[in-house]
Amino acid sequence: MASSLLSSIWAAAIFLGLQAAGASWPYNTYVTEPFQPPQLGVNVSGTPAPGYIFVGPRGEQPNGTAALIYDQDGSLVYQSPGAVTSNVNVQTLFGKPVLTYWDGDMLTIGFGYGLVHVLDDTYNEIYTVTLPGDIIPVDGSPRASYIDLHESQLTPRNTMLVTAYNVTQADLTSVGGAEDGWITDSTFWEIDVATNQVVFSWSALAHIDEIPLNYSHQPLPVGNDRNNPWDAYHINSVVAVDDGYLISIRHMFSAFYLNSDGSVKWRLSGNGGGDFQAGPNCNFSWQHHIRAFEETPTSITLSIFNNNNNGPSQRVPTTGLVLDLDLLFMTASNRRTLADASYPMYSWSQGSNQLVSGDPDGNALLDYGSTTVIHEFDSSGNTVLSAQFGEINQPASYRGYKYQWSATPFWDPAVVVRSNSAGNVSVYMSWNGATDYDTWSIYGGSSVAAANSTLLKTVARTGFETRADLVIGNLTYIQVAAEKGAGTRRYSMPVAVPS
Ligand SMILES: *[C@@H]1O[C@H](CO)[C@@H](O)[C@H](O)[C@H]1NC(C)=O
Ligand SMILES: *[C@@H]1O[C@H](CO)[C@@H](O)[C@H](O)[C@H]1NC(C)=O
Ligand SMILES: *[C@@H]1O[C@H](CO)[C@@H](O)[C@H](O)[C@H]1NC(C)=O
Ligand SMILES: *[C@@H]1O[C@H](CO)[C@@H](O)[C@H](O)[C@H]1NC(C)=O
Ligand SMILES: *[C@@H]1O[C@H](CO)[C@@H](O)[C@H](O)[C@H]1NC(C)=O
Ligand SMILES: *[C@@H]1O[C@H](CO)[C@@H](O)[C@H](O)[C@H]1NC(C)=O
Ligand SMILES: *[C@@H]1O[C@H](CO)[C@@H](O)[C@H](O)[C@H]1NC(C)=O
Ligand SMILES: *[C@@H]1O[C@H](CO)[C@@H](O)[C@H](O)[C@H]1NC(C)=O
Repeated sequence: MASSLLSSIWAAAIFLGLQAAGASWPYNTYVTEPFQPPQLGVNVSGTPAPGYIFVGPRGEQPNGTAALIYDQDGSLVYQSPGAVTSNVNVQTLFGKPVLTYWDGDMLTIGFGYGLVHVLDDTYNEIYTVTLPGDIIPVDGSPRASYIDLHESQLTPRNTMLVTAYNVTQADLTSVGGAEDGWITDSTFWEIDVATNQVVFSWSALAHIDEIPLNYSHQPLPVGNDRNNPWDAYHINSVVAVDDGYLISIRHMFSAFYLNSDGSVKWRLSGNGGGDFQAGPNCNFSWQHHIRAFEETPTSITLSIFNNNNNGPSQRVPTTGLVLDLDLLFMTASNRRTLADASYPMYSWSQGSNQLVSGDPDGNALLDYGSTTVIHEFDSSGNTVLSAQFGEINQPASYRGYKYQWSATPFWDPAVVVRSNSAGNVSVYMSWNGATDYDTWSIYGGSSVAAANSTLLKTVARTGFETRADLVIGNLTYIQVAAEKGAGTRRYSMPVAVPS
């Protein structure tokens, strides 16, 4: 099998625990919130699409792990409750935008077990999607929910597609393994979000006749050990398409189009085409995040994050691909390759390729997974934005996205008042998650009830947290309001001026 040619010890798509020997990347701190997100360095060299940047960094600094939203100036906009997250993104549920992110245990060998939060545009958790039941996790520890970190994709029918890795046994003699070999089956599940009921499930191993094990490029582990199962497939994306599902099987360098009964309609292999005759520049390997566009009965366009690497020593430039498939003649042709020759990236695990507006010829945002860098390409293939949120190969964000997002939190703005000297204070103000304010008004009074009786100062918002210094005389209470024109006015709680 081809995999035997690979000597890589990097058996997994996710690698954690690369603890910095003293984190050197700068992390922000705030007075009003305990958050310590990584600084997001942003360089703009063209016209990026409008929107915010969504990442879930982790791996270096525990306080920086959460679902994070930044603006394109690099200021934090939102930090979720502390958690190890992945796939932080905006999707549509029942016709409304929702923020979804996976939250759970990430195992160092490339799997996760957890659940998916679904928040509305006030950050109220309206649904929590879970998968209890019949799964044996790689670490053997039973859990209340087994949703894997790799996918949490909503469908137009208001279901969520999620992946799960199940340790089981299979006959591996066809690939030189044991008859009772240990393997991680790649499964995916379609869950009705409103009821959390499973409406469809699929297992790669159950389709071994259509997806033989010898498609895998993943080396068999040494020995036959339940604690070290062969990750033959490594499913990492699932999306609903007209006739069923489109899945990415990383270790087989393949996209499979499945019929709605789970049978295989066709396979696109990044290693020579599979069921397609592939034109130039259609190969891909160790890929992530395959999405479908412009589907008709006779054609479909796929976006692919082509890692092209499976370990830090394999320095082959990572690319974003957009491939056109002709389903009549079964040909694949390259429509776009997204890569910056002057700033090559080598992403050996994780990553995403987001066609930002849904237009295959429009801007594309590549999150380089293990390498903490995001590049946005315009329709001509020029890099128009690059952003970084950590030392290369220290933290990682499984995927990174850009979305337009408008949110008004259900909580009030936060304010902290510090006394500099008698009657002279610094006021710190923030409103975690709020997108629609640009101004702070600072009020004072001599009682809680009258804390906003006198307008003292109005200042422009500066990023996540705004500081204003002012002289307040003998006023004993401060209250602030986040504002935007006549539209938004939201008060903080009144706070006592410290003596
Ligand atoms: C995380 O935050 C807590 C509380 O804010 C702080 O005490 C701790 O030092 C932080 N940890 C790191 C690694 O910075
Ligand atoms: C997971 O594997 C176990 C065997 O280890 C099996 O009993 C169980 O049915 C499998 N679950 C699924 C969903 O295939
Ligand atoms: C892969 O396995 C299938 C089914 O076991 C077999 O028909 C096929 O010949 C094998 N291909 C190669 C290249 O070994
Ligand atoms: C694509 O992969 C096939 C199968 O390994 C190989 O024969 C072909 O040379 C590759 N094409 C390119 C352009 O690398
Ligand atoms: C932004 O540009 C500066 C100066 O050229 C460079 O040092 C930095 O690495 C760049 N950052 C990103 C994220 O591209
Ligand atoms: C208020 O305190 C700040 C910080 O100590 C100081 O810089 C500023 O000059 C003071 N303003 C007045 C009017 O005393
Ligand atoms: C003062 O704040 C309260 C909310 O805390 C608000 O109901 C009231 O209208 C405010 N008063 C003024 C004068 O803005
Ligand atoms: C606060 O100061 C104002 C004006 O300087 C004064 O009229 C008022 O009596 C003072 N109030 C108190 C409680 O000291």
